[in-house]
Amino acid sequence: MEFKIGNNGLVNVVCAFENEDFLVSEKTKSYIKENELFTGKRQEVFTSLGPFSENLILLGLGKREEISLENIRRSFLALGKTLKKNNVKSCNIKVEKIDHICYKLTAMAMVEGILNANYVFDKFVKKEKEYSCMVYLDVLEEKKQRVLDGIKEIETVVEGVFMCRDLVNRPANDIYPETLANFAKETLEKVGVDVEILEKKQIESLKMDAFLSVAKGSDLLPKFIIMKYLPNKDEKPIVLVGKGLTYDAGGLAIKPASGMVDMKTDMAGSASVISSIYSLAKMKVKRNVIGLVATCENMINGSAYRNGDIISSMKGSSIEVINTDAEGRLTLADAIYYGASKLNPECIVDIATLTGACIYALGSRVIGAVSNNDEMFEKMKESSQYTGEYLWRFPVYEEHRESVKGKIADLLNATGPGTGGAITAGVFLEHFTENYPWVHLDIAGPAYSKNTWGINPEGASGIPVKTLYNFVKKYNKNK
Ligand code: BES
Ligand code: ZN
Ligand code: ZN
Repeated sequence: MEFKIGNNGLVNVVCAFENEDFLVSEKTKSYIKENELFTGKRQEVFTSLGPFSENLILLGLGKREEISLENIRRSFLALGKTLKKNNVKSCNIKVEKIDHICYKLTAMAMVEGILNANYVFDKFVKKEKEYSCMVYLDVLEEKKQRVLDGIKEIETVVEGVFMCRDLVNRPANDIYPETLANFAKETLEKVGVDVEILEKKQIESLKMDAFLSVAKGSDLLPKFIIMKYLPNKDEKPIVLVGKGLTYDAGGLAIKPASGMVDMKTDMAGSASVISSIYSLAKMKVKRNVIGLVATCENMINGSAYRNGDIISSMKGSSIEVINTDAEGRLTLADAIYYGASKLNPECIVDIATLTGACIYALGSRVIGAVSNNDEMFEKMKESSQYTGEYLWRFPVYEEHRESVKGKIADLLNATGPGTGGAITAGVFLEHFTENYPWVHLDIAGPAYSKNTWGINPEGASGIPVKTLYNFVKKYNKNK
């Protein structure tokens, strides 16, 4: 897809609010009204295309009072699908100011919607012929530059979102610790990010016993990926830590086949870290960021860690392994502690497909957050609202903290029924943050879906790449 400013396309796209007037010829309008062909409902599309037609597409925006960036994205997703289905090669879209939303943001939401209609995961199937359309955005001359800047940015962010989707959709025999690390190195070095991959020996020297314990049951070697994007001198970095289980069979606490089949997605957190850093670096956002991923598989061989083992961690805290399937927090504990103890971070964000409990609590479309810092959490919340990714913060009470305390070890890696599993998992991680401002994002639900939803395709959504990108970008804005 290509976007330009102008109106040289062959097809005219006309937007309309529900039950409001729209700009087409009187004759066409009365025909449409008389036959009730279009009322302007959100995502409703009417087409009149072909050699003897007006070459017109009407696009419904929904009720005027309900307009939002996300509703624009969703309407334009429907438009994008229509353009593709009809193989439209060029079209014009008038960009107008919609109530409180400025031209630039409107154009960005339009472009984002259209781009999303064209995502396919086709690495393992015969590729369709690639569809492309020249989309002309018709905008006032004085808004032209701002809109062009916006298009470039949203194209780069969507590129990151698609990169994340691809990584998550790729199966575990294709993306495993080594290939994930190599992907990060190859992709990020192209945009000026310094990538270091620590091998098992080096991970051992760091005493990351919790991470290494999880990795023990797999024949594939663990890797610790450090991605440094540091455009500023003397600025503390924002540290992004992503869960990077390229497969989670559950270990000796093995999952049933039904719960295992989608566990190639258990590296979605790390995919979002790699991809958001890619977009940030490509856009040359002036903010120091370091990404950390402790990547391995949770499998079973003769060396696998056991339910009941007491293991150590980089921090030195001992952990009783109540359940080998609660492995994510073990890998994250060491990665978070590495960030806290070695990188003097401004703040830490971890992103993980961490708990089924989070899905029970919030449903499968919502990110569950735990945080030790209200101000930082608010920034994350703002970013998620702006990007249309759903986020809700869990409360933490004394009893949650009690639940993760052990008797014969400092900590327990799993807590019993009724303890609030999504919260106690977060509380477990908090122990390794060394009181740095921290937000934990549990993406077990929204990272991956059997069905399409919102502007997301079936399979991986790329959540929360957009939230992370904007969180980092706007971090300093109000300082
Ligand atoms: N990777 C899973 C969590 C998960 C579940 C992600 C469903 C995506 C969809 C995680 O490692 C896990 O197995 N968690 C256990 C923890 C329990 C044993 C305390 C869970 O949620 O059941
Ligand atoms: Zn697990
Ligand atoms: Zn897992």
